Amino acid sequence: MREFKILSFFAIGLILSSCGNSEESTAKKNRSAQISDSHSYSNFKKINTTHLHLDIEVDFETKTIAGVARHEMNDHHSNVAIFDTKALEIQKVTLGKDNEIGTDFEIGDANEILGRPLKVKIKPDTKYINIYYSTTDKTQALDWLEPALTTGKKHPFMYTQGQAILTRSWIPLQDTPMNRITYSADVKVPSELMAVMSAENPKKKSATGEYHFKMNQRIPAYLIALAVGDLTYTPLSDRCGIYSEPELAAECEYEFVDLPKMIEAAENLYGTYQWDQFDMAILPYSFPFGGMENPRLTFANPTLLAGDRSLVSVVAHELAHSWSGNLVTNATWNDFWLNEGFTVYFENRIMEALYGKEIADIHAFIERQDLSATLEDMENGKHPEDTQLKLHLDARDPDEGLTDIAYVKGAFFLRTLEKKVGRKKFDAFLKQYFKSHAFQTISTESFVEYLRAELLEPNKIEFNVDEWIYQPGIPDNCVKIRSRRLERMSELAQDVNEGEMIFIGSDADLKRDDFITQEWLAFIRGLSDDITPQTMREIDRKLSFSMSANSAIKSEWYQLAIRVGYKDMRPYMKEHLMKVGRRWLIEGIYTELANSKDTSNLKWAKDVFAKAKDNYHFVSRSTVAEILGEK
Ligand code: BES
Ligand code: ZN
Repeated sequence: MREFKILSFFAIGLILSSCGNSEESTAKKNRSAQISDSHSYSNFKKINTTHLHLDIEVDFETKTIAGVARHEMNDHHSNVAIFDTKALEIQKVTLGKDNEIGTDFEIGDANEILGRPLKVKIKPDTKYINIYYSTTDKTQALDWLEPALTTGKKHPFMYTQGQAILTRSWIPLQDTPMNRITYSADVKVPSELMAVMSAENPKKKSATGEYHFKMNQRIPAYLIALAVGDLTYTPLSDRCGIYSEPELAAECEYEFVDLPKMIEAAENLYGTYQWDQFDMAILPYSFPFGGMENPRLTFANPTLLAGDRSLVSVVAHELAHSWSGNLVTNATWNDFWLNEGFTVYFENRIMEALYGKEIADIHAFIERQDLSATLEDMENGKHPEDTQLKLHLDARDPDEGLTDIAYVKGAFFLRTLEKKVGRKKFDAFLKQYFKSHAFQTISTESFVEYLRAELLEPNKIEFNVDEWIYQPGIPDNCVKIRSRRLERMSELAQDVNEGEMIFIGSDADLKRDDFITQEWLAFIRGLSDDITPQTMREIDRKLSFSMSANSAIKSEWYQLAIRVGYKDMRPYMKEHLMKVGRRWLIEGIYTELANSKDTSNLKWAKDVFAKAKDNYHFVSRSTVAEILGEK
């Protein structure tokens, strides 16, 4: 009711706020002020949150988070503050700190991607805005898990996933990477559970279930994160460690033993780690990503626990984000490659520092293969222009930018630059880039300007920067990666393709442990779709790919099996799809099933998805629904 009453107030307010004023002319001098973020409704350039305090309770009975988001605002002179919300219930909005007074607010129409703007009537000198709210069952950030979906199976679990624009579905705020805030939180959870955030964290459970958090460094909204479950802390050094369910603690300690060395290597490359503590929280299998770089507390999927430390490049990746992404942040989701391309490049440098160039090249080679496949799909798809680094995702879901272009083309751009200018100069340039832009956001255009001014012009280097960034496809000067070890695996696969039974005869003793994960991936990729189910059966007999402990190998193997028509593995594939929600490990499988000429595969996929979908986070669930034509 209240929402209608105040319409006229807002109509006038918005007209006024769109007129020019002196603030705007100052702003025009500043390049970043000229960019807008089409994925946020907020008027953060007129008025912005500087500090957010959350006072919330996490209720596992009703599966809701409810409480107050207390926003401390900058000096502004504005009559309206606009926040982003999505599927939230807003109970009331007040102004003031100790003496709160109710104010009018209006919630705009819902947009499927962006959610709804919350427009709050304020005074030009308003400093504090308090939004009383609760989440709903339509929330897209939150994943509520029954005990059966955890490792311990005794306690429920809940975690948030904010990137790219989902934070607004659990906190009403200005959900744009262009505004950075500090935050604090008072969080109440059931007393048998522990709460952790992307902030200073407890090391032990509190008897009352009450936790207090502080993040004193300024971060964008997408990096606010919370996880609640039966967690225990295992330190790996005095500044890093792992939060996991107690049942996984020993495995984590083994798998991530190199983490302290990774942090040192990263610091040697690009300067001091700025976030004091680097911990990881191992979430349930439904977590839609391998890792998410929430500052001070990377979230990770337990599929990383391969038992042989073969998937630790994901840890190097999330650690690298502590510089690229968290310290220097993409201004908008069109600049996403600045986060991910830099991070994949940096991840590879950490891998090289720890494990040598041969291993680093193996990773880069696999990524380059992925990129070629992605390029082919995209060039024949709906948006061939998305093969540019700089994207134009206005009116589209920023999730659509999450492709190998940002990650791998981005990293190869930097590798090619490195080759051209030499590693020494390039490293010095990157170190300075992180230092001079620390705790800031940056657009592609500003980066290009900085690159020319600080690296290319002083060294009189000609480089096709514009082609790399603003043109589709991969430029001809892209560096080539070779890997003798992976070539050997392709040759082995070729022998199989040509009918040689490599598992009988001279290579008969080939064992799973003879090669690392990435080598087996290259082997599986080298196998032709024309091999027979019988050949796959033989390989399985020898190497047990179908029931591998390594979900990356399983995912690659199942995709080939679908194309070949090798159905023996279906029970294992079903088990994998029921358990794992990491999107990258399931979307390829569902895509093969959906595209298969054998239409029984699509039916099988739909049946499995119907049972598995409650085990997936919204992010994976919606991707799979789209693949299966259910959206
Ligand atoms: N920040 C990303 C995950 C992400 C990106 C979530 C965009 C939502 C929107 C994270 O750092 C990431 O890239 N994870 C990868 C790691 C891999 C490339 C090593 C993953 O989960 O697979
Ligand atoms: Zn990343």
